[in-house]
Amino acid sequence: MTDPSRSTDPLSIWHRLADTSVLLDGFHALKHALRFDARVPVAVTTDRRAALALADELAPDVRDALDVLLTEVPEAAYRTLVPRPHPTGVAALAVRPSREANLETLRRTPRIAPVVVLDNPRNLGNAGAVIRLAAGFGATGVVTTGTLDPWHPTVVRGGAGLHFATAVERLAVAELPPGPVFALDPEGDDIRGLKLPDDAVLAFGSERTGLSADLRARTDHLVSLPMRPQVSSYNLATSVAMTLYHWSATGGAPA
Ligand SMILES: C[S@@+](CC[C@H](N)C(=O)[O-])C[C@H]1O[C@@H](n2cnc3c(N)ncnc32)[C@H](O)[C@@H]1O
Repeated sequence: MTDPSRSTDPLSIWHRLADTSVLLDGFHALKHALRFDARVPVAVTTDRRAALALADELAPDVRDALDVLLTEVPEAAYRTLVPRPHPTGVAALAVRPSREANLETLRRTPRIAPVVVLDNPRNLGNAGAVIRLAAGFGATGVVTTGTLDPWHPTVVRGGAGLHFATAVERLAVAELPPGPVFALDPEGDDIRGLKLPDDAVLAFGSERTGLSADLRARTDHLVSLPMRPQVSSYNLATSVAMTLYHWSATGGAPA
């Protein structure tokens, strides 16, 4: 009798790996993950021809990899694999990068691009958007403190598969990577008068309560984004966007 744990049928592989893997939900998440060298043991689609046509149009660089990886499965089977089926009808499982490798990346000095710290973020969509920004700007990584899991499927969905383009880990404030901490807060010095160094640790507070006391105690520079009186604060992810843009516009630059 065939040993089910050795089956090469994609649905069996999926069921075997689902609990320990990262769900890549949709064509774009899979495309990004492949571009940034994720290991993808299984990928399924409800329409192989349509998925490969999308690759021809939008991502010819990963078309061959997709051709090898993608297995067509019936719509009903696909719906059992993913909680909210994606309009592109593509889903895959990727191997999560090792924590040790990510920690090594985060702690390596000298650093050529900042680390973004989200201090006890609450909103999964914000965390995903920040990971996408960090990937786009070539940040070294994104560290979260607190209870939110930055590899939660909703965060991965919001990050469009770009968790593989930057080092994403959860750490305690006491374990933050080396480098001067620039913490963003409306009470800080105006960012427009500052150059953010490439080895900066850029810290942002929680959506509800701002920066924690622990993070403030680690802060070297408190920095504000321009904002007119009577506006209390910006959204967390847009604050990260402005700060990374400022870093890039004042010398630090994505490739
Ligand atoms: C939604 S805000 C937090 C609002 C929160 N109610 C508070 O008391 O600070 C989330 C984070 O975005 C950053 N932020 C928002 N607006 C900012 C501004 N004008 N200057 C600097 N940082 C800002 C800060 O890091 C802040 O902790």
